[in-house]
Amino acid sequence: MSTTVVDVDGALEAAGLTNEAVKEFVRYWAEHTGAERIEVVSAADDSRLIEEALAADEIQPAGEGLYYSRSYSKDTARSEERTIVATSNESDRGVYNNWRHADEIRPVVEGHMKGALAGKTMYVIPYLMAPPGSPLEKFAAGVELTDNRTVCLHMIRMARVGVDLINNLAEPDHFVRAVHVTGDLENLGQGTPDDKRNFVTVADQRTILHFGSSYGGNALLGKIAHGLRQASYDGWASGQFLSEQFMLLGIHDKQTGKTWHVCGGFPSASGKTNLAMTLAPDALGDRYHVSFYGDDIAWLWVGEDGALYGLNPENGVFGVAKDTNEKTNPTALESIAPGAQALFTNVAYNPDTHEVWWEGKTPERPSDTAGWVDWKGEKIADRNPDEAGDPWAHPNSRFTTSLDQVPNVAPDYSDPAGVKIDAIIFGGRTRDREPLIRAINDLAEGVYDGLTLGAEATSAADGKEGVLRYDPMSMRPFMSYPEGDYAAHWLKIVGAASEQPIFAHVNWFQRDSEDGHFLWPGYRENLRALLWLCRLKDGEVTGRETAVGVLPTEEELDLTGLDLPREDLDRILTIDVPRWREEMGYRQEHLEQFRELPEEIWVAHRRVADAVQRA
Ligand code: GDP
Ligand code: PGA
Ligand code: MN
Ligand code: MN
Repeated sequence: MSTTVVDVDGALEAAGLTNEAVKEFVRYWAEHTGAERIEVVSAADDSRLIEEALAADEIQPAGEGLYYSRSYSKDTARSEERTIVATSNESDRGVYNNWRHADEIRPVVEGHMKGALAGKTMYVIPYLMAPPGSPLEKFAAGVELTDNRTVCLHMIRMARVGVDLINNLAEPDHFVRAVHVTGDLENLGQGTPDDKRNFVTVADQRTILHFGSSYGGNALLGKIAHGLRQASYDGWASGQFLSEQFMLLGIHDKQTGKTWHVCGGFPSASGKTNLAMTLAPDALGDRYHVSFYGDDIAWLWVGEDGALYGLNPENGVFGVAKDTNEKTNPTALESIAPGAQALFTNVAYNPDTHEVWWEGKTPERPSDTAGWVDWKGEKIADRNPDEAGDPWAHPNSRFTTSLDQVPNVAPDYSDPAGVKIDAIIFGGRTRDREPLIRAINDLAEGVYDGLTLGAEATSAADGKEGVLRYDPMSMRPFMSYPEGDYAAHWLKIVGAASEQPIFAHVNWFQRDSEDGHFLWPGYRENLRALLWLCRLKDGEVTGRETAVGVLPTEEELDLTGLDLPREDLDRILTIDVPRWREEMGYRQEHLEQFRELPEEIWVAHRRVADAVQRA
């Protein structure tokens, strides 16, 4: 019955791929999709793949060692509605994981993929999420099959990619089977009732099937689908670790020699990448050095010595371009400077000069519009007057660069042992109520705070921008199992650590209710809030107790060189009690949705609610 038109074994052997379980996986999908060619991808193939992609016009030059590409205009962000977690056990259904039975949804996606690679190449990308040798290596291996060369280029930057990584697994069969088929993007009915896209993680089969997109968040399967959804399911099922949408950074105080490691979750496009890349503000002199470990995913576990550890399973940065400039994030600009081998997606582009531009890159748009095309590929010079104000770059346009290009990347970023975690923070875009920072010194209350993270949704997900919603631990789009179990797993893992991390809720996005300006300068200045938190943990400051946590006093926060209006400073350092009273009712409803929420979380909720009433 074989319809395979290609010599799969020959291609895999020629590439040195010897893992029999991987071969069998590739054989099945080569036959199912009808692929005409098989090509195994390793990081060493990058420059050849770049040349081929340039020749095929899939990417364009954007300066020395820099490249530009556009995804289809209806395919520029993650689609939450079309994203599904499937298993064979109905008790895995949660509020946010869009659970479906594997037997029901698998045939639907496999149906879309049937024959879809006729005449095309199937790229085989063996990868590891997490540095080789980590205690979580068992959960790190995967093989992505894709029909899209640009996806290969992104995967090489975002993950550790190579045949050697998959040949000698301790358990050869224990790898994530990830299949990506782009599909006929112009005929998938994106956003209509007849939407054919399906982004499915069959978590208990460790299989990822994504059909209908070439946008990074949907198509780089090592990153979000494996690194977050599958890994958080694995972490729970094995009882061994947490996988969270967390940045991870180190703060070194050169004066005292002390280093703290802080990780934390903010919803997509809410400041993780900027925070982890931020160097100490110039105004504080060169006393502090912030080192970058990761900007989007952290795996957390308790080591043999009893300490809480974290590592970044990724190998690169997939950052939001908008508002990245010399002032907000000079480090990011260095990581995408000429020679960085970085990729830009859905920014504005000038094919004559090979320049790229996005909103906020420079205060003004390029004055000479000749040559420039916007994120849809349309000429700026041809725009109707009523389109003149439309953004040139998509608000979710991105840059992709590898960690070794980030100037402040930590020297030990690839250390499989990970780093000890001192603090865990949650935050998001919240225009009122949430102060600059409030610290929480209790595990259950910290987990409760994460579960009740409420923030504005962003352009990283289709059609959601600006909507205020709860986003537990910033994992709402990546939640793979029920929220009650998730909370219990958090209490268990972090609770097992010999030294408890301090928790905090941060908000860089509080706004003036009249003119809407941000009350806090944000970006590089955010370090000031984190320094206060680290000092609080070390007992050097005491803060001020409030109903919802410990806030810094004005004297404790290092404000050297900042010139904040009095009213703004007062607002970000106080609790808006009436707004918090209102909030507690919403939280009650939010938490009531979750089955079997641990009693500790309810206790924390009641304690905070009572304190807010009495405030
Ligand atoms: P991530 O997706 O969570 O990694 O978020 P990014 O760090 O990429 O930031 C997303 C958007 O928020 C970008 O447009 C940033 O310029 C903007 N942003 C990041 N940090 C701050 C901040 O502290 N203040 C303000 N006002 N904007 C920020
Ligand atoms: P982000 O990463 O969190 O940096 O936006 C991509 C995503 O979450 O979609
Ligand atoms: Mn993310
Ligand atoms: Mn980011």
